[in-house]
Amino acid sequence: MSTFQLPPLSLYIHIPWCIQKCPYCDFNSRALKGSLNEETYIDALLADLDNELFQVHNRPLHSIFIGGGTPSLFSGSAITHLMEGVRQRITLPADAEITLEANPGTLEAGRFEDYRAAGVNRLSIGVQSFDAGCLQRLGRIHGPDEAIAAFHAARAARFERINLDLMFGLPGQDLVQAQHDLEQAIELKPEHISYYQLTLEPGTPFFHAPPTLPLEDSLWEIQQQGQTLLSDHGYKQYEVSAYAQPGEPCRHNINYWTFGDYLGIGAGAHGKQSDPNGVITRRWKVPEPATYLATAGTDRALSGQKTLEPDEITLEFMMNVLRLNQGFSQDLYEQRTGHSFTAIATSIKRTIHDGLLENRNGIFMPTAIGRRFLNNLLEKFLP
Ligand SMILES: C[S@@+](CC[C@H](N)C(=O)[O-])C[C@H]1O[C@@H](n2cnc3c(N)ncnc32)[C@H](O)[C@@H]1O
Ligand code: SF4
Repeated sequence: MSTFQLPPLSLYIHIPWCIQKCPYCDFNSRALKGSLNEETYIDALLADLDNELFQVHNRPLHSIFIGGGTPSLFSGSAITHLMEGVRQRITLPADAEITLEANPGTLEAGRFEDYRAAGVNRLSIGVQSFDAGCLQRLGRIHGPDEAIAAFHAARAARFERINLDLMFGLPGQDLVQAQHDLEQAIELKPEHISYYQLTLEPGTPFFHAPPTLPLEDSLWEIQQQGQTLLSDHGYKQYEVSAYAQPGEPCRHNINYWTFGDYLGIGAGAHGKQSDPNGVITRRWKVPEPATYLATAGTDRALSGQKTLEPDEITLEFMMNVLRLNQGFSQDLYEQRTGHSFTAIATSIKRTIHDGLLENRNGIFMPTAIGRRFLNNLLEKFLP
């Protein structure tokens, strides 16, 4: 008999516009040309959601993440309309985590208060750096002061859960500057810090004409010292790039990484859903906003879908769960995949033997080496 259990269900909502496109970014986002017809987009999102409801299977929403792009381009009334529409369609418990991504360059008086009143209870602010030169070289639309002002505005609007996105390994950045960025972030006392290494993504201007980045040894030092500084201030690393105060990890992302389900609505949004028999399907929407607006709510808004093969289910489970320092139990593997643990027993033994994984009282956790060489660890679970 299958051990499969329907996992928690989250909702990802994608907003595909920004004020201008950053030269390092390969997210599905583009500069907004002309005015934003936000109500038309919200109507499209809700029509899209209607088309996804068959996959809910009576579950309440575990969390919502409104990401982008730059969701903070949208007014408070648009986000209120969106949240009301979601509540009319799916049960949204009072304690569900609802995050919205905000760019400090879009701060408008009263907007954060309106988001809070709409039910958003967590803000993720894209700071990237507190160094004016670094921000300029990254093509950001804001300086350090606006990032600090955005943080204080969020607190004044009663946001008790705030994440700051920072990147390191920036053009022209040295160890001292990287440390200063983190110190400034820590001084603000956010509940959560995401600390990403800047990567050169194919198709971006930075990929085609790479800026001078810190060398490998310097990057390693920045990362090591950064981890120490964060941990000295109570930010525990729980995932490759995520650090949180006790009890403050992002519940939405944890649901992704523990192979939970999520509906994805909006241009280019991805979703992963299970049916009660353990059949797991990924679906993704058309990325181009104009096409999305013209087709949302019909099957033509679906760019593709794929049902996972049993071998792919195991690999995808590992690709997600092994990002987490907390690791996974036999029960979680069996509930999420519907497979018996004996199917991976040999691979597990091999990874433990190679020092990539450890078994702590039945919880399988990546070791420090396993985390550093995550691809080598994942290789052991290839079909
Ligand atoms: C989708 S963006 C949303 C935040 C918002 N649009 C902003 O930039 O302020 C999420 C985060 O991904 C990170 N990011 C984007 N491109 C990256 C890259 N090439 N390398 C590393 N991190 C990147 C940035 O820290 C960014 O804040
Ligand atoms: S503002 Fe954020 S999503 Fe938009 S282009 Fe810049 S990094 Fe990408």
